[in-house]
Amino acid sequence: MENFFEKDWRFTRDLSCEKIFMQESFSDKNWEKVDIPHDWAIKGPFDEKNDAEITIIDVDGGREWKMVHPGRSGGLPHVGKGFYRKNFTLSGIKEKHFRIEFDGVMSWSKVYCNGKYVTGRPYGYSSFSADITSFVKEGENILAVSAENLPGASRWYPGAGIYRHVRMVVEPLIHVKMWGTRIVTKENTVKIRTQIENPAGKEEEILFAILDKNGMCVAEKREKITDSADVAFTLENVEKWSVDDPVLYTLVTEIAGGRRETRFGFRDMKFDAHDGFFLNGEKMKFKGVCLHHDLGIIGAAVDRDVTEHRLKLLKSIGCNAIRTAHNPPDPELLDLCDSMGFLVICEAYDEWKLPKCPNGVHLYFDEWGEKDLRDMIRRDANHPSVMMWSIGNEIDEQYTADGPVMTKHLCSICHDEDPSRPTTAGLNNGDDSITGGLFDDVDIKGFNYKPYIYSLYHHTFPDAPIYASESASTISSRGEYSDYLFEELVKKPDLQIDSFDLCNSPGATIPEHEFKGQDENPFVMGEFVWTGFDYLGEPTPYREEWPVRSSFYGIFDLCGIPKNRAYLYKSRWTKEKVLYLMPHWNWEGHKHVPVQCYTNYKTVELFVNGKSMGAKSRNVKKILGYSRLVWASVPYEKGEIRVKALDEKGNVLEETFIRTAGEPAAIQLEADRTNETLFVTASIVDAEGNLCPDADNLITFESNGKILAADGGNAASTDVFHTPYCKAFHGKCMCFVRGKENCTVKASMIYKGKTIIAEIVK
Ligand code: GAL
Repeated sequence: MENFFEKDWRFTRDLSCEKIFMQESFSDKNWEKVDIPHDWAIKGPFDEKNDAEITIIDVDGGREWKMVHPGRSGGLPHVGKGFYRKNFTLSGIKEKHFRIEFDGVMSWSKVYCNGKYVTGRPYGYSSFSADITSFVKEGENILAVSAENLPGASRWYPGAGIYRHVRMVVEPLIHVKMWGTRIVTKENTVKIRTQIENPAGKEEEILFAILDKNGMCVAEKREKITDSADVAFTLENVEKWSVDDPVLYTLVTEIAGGRRETRFGFRDMKFDAHDGFFLNGEKMKFKGVCLHHDLGIIGAAVDRDVTEHRLKLLKSIGCNAIRTAHNPPDPELLDLCDSMGFLVICEAYDEWKLPKCPNGVHLYFDEWGEKDLRDMIRRDANHPSVMMWSIGNEIDEQYTADGPVMTKHLCSICHDEDPSRPTTAGLNNGDDSITGGLFDDVDIKGFNYKPYIYSLYHHTFPDAPIYASESASTISSRGEYSDYLFEELVKKPDLQIDSFDLCNSPGATIPEHEFKGQDENPFVMGEFVWTGFDYLGEPTPYREEWPVRSSFYGIFDLCGIPKNRAYLYKSRWTKEKVLYLMPHWNWEGHKHVPVQCYTNYKTVELFVNGKSMGAKSRNVKKILGYSRLVWASVPYEKGEIRVKALDEKGNVLEETFIRTAGEPAAIQLEADRTNETLFVTASIVDAEGNLCPDADNLITFESNGKILAADGGNAASTDVFHTPYCKAFHGKCMCFVRGKENCTVKASMIYKGKTIIAEIVK
């Protein structure tokens, strides 16, 4: 549903208005017109001076190593102040409550209504509301919001401004409080606690009704209430929520003419130290990914279609769980996880009192830390997808005596707010956390990059369930290859990383080490791969180089195009058969080339121009035998490589090939629709339809819909995303278009003076 309060805001970054921008008499007519959600920095330009942080790398490198790190938070102009104003008209305001709900403002927001300060919030990931009831008047009103990003405040791109949804809620004076409904289900019972705002304190009637997935009322109760009410229902034939069949119910509450709907689900979760995780009695592994909040080429401004599209991509490779690294998520992500079937770890912080960044959360942790944590839980506790509360990621207190005290305190806040869910934390320094006692009070121990020592940890905490809160941190650039398999991290002059998936961040691993650790220790509940998608910022290993401004960690690239690893995880995480071949076969001038196949078939034979290069079988006794087969040095000959999956008798079960591509001759378009958004992938191919693996031509898009962004997913590019054209990267690029059905998207490029055009309608 369209939210009219988000339309027609005014925005400026002109600091000369700073002292007066909130005044009613101030004229904003020269300010830019924007709609919310809005990320003021995403249009760029990229610049190495934007938030070039001087860092001490203590997360993924040597401790005392000081450096200027230009791309660390994305190289976009997010630092500084921005000012917003919204004019709105009200009539008949008597006996009504007015509240502006902000899902998140990045950051240090201050909200004014009709010239007066109402509220503000330093942490850009926290949701909050501004009660403007006593500030509004009949007729014209003005809401003014400022946001300020300090330099050196984030280890990744934070976004800037009112980047999440905002809504005006108008209710009777008597109403259910924001986040005032708590629903807890167990087996077929549902317990509800509702708190209301009731200024006169008179007894009122409140209706509770439960609707099933088809909207049919299956139970109903009326109660008398003055400030809070507890009710319980036991339902028959409850349909459970699960990741494969995420059945949702709705609680409707009605009081004093106001109505609230809250979705919930019935599911039982068991976390067992010896047997692992069970959902509704069935054992299951977390096949999870960590996600940062930005949406790649559209930046940090939230977008339901893009989020849903990303979740669809993750589902397609068998992913069933998300860790919201390292901050409270956008609430819409949780709505989608509820309805699409993902388990979620909601994480509160990346930092407590000890800094990872000079101007990070530690600046206000003492004052706001508890409120931010409580608010995350109050807001999100009704989501059936949420399974644990994470109090932090690799927080530096794991090395200090303060750590256990703070952990105890934060875990007790979580239990106080929500006794129904366990607490967790993701720690990379297992040893200090254990000996120092930091982990003692965390219910479920999350280990980052420790696949080799699960049995040791199990021995140390025999009663605690454990899992990999972060795994792999393998890095790659889609489509990038050398003619050699680098088994350790090698920086390349083109600022890319090979796509053979053999390189990882220092201290991390390639995917298969985690597979082995999980398989040999079946009590481990699963893993959360770092990360589902490339994200803006943290371009490890190119910390000092420029221009590199986004990460290489994604299973999918910054646009959402699958990298090779998508097939590696798919082969492990799904029952679908996978036979995926790499690299490309355009190696003029090279004598030997490595070839890899990601597969869950047992045996695969490789052919070059029909000549067998030998059959290989998977063998989990070897690290690279889990899901990949490697022919490390195959003589190059122009033509074709082909792999055939064989059964025990040598019968061919499936085959696939890659051919040497000729010159670019056509653009192939594929479009995937999610609601009102088309995700169009353009591939530059030769006359036979083979992908041209090094094509980096400029492609221009046209559409009768609205082009949101176009890009090739190249982490080492300073081209902005919002233009209707972009350079292909290794033969491919994407364009996101907002448009109703039968939307036309045209792509064109000029090659050797000839115009090549393609069109798609969807
Ligand atoms: C982890 C950290 C993540 C990310 C990752 C990169 O240690 O928790 O936020 O920095 O390293 O490998």
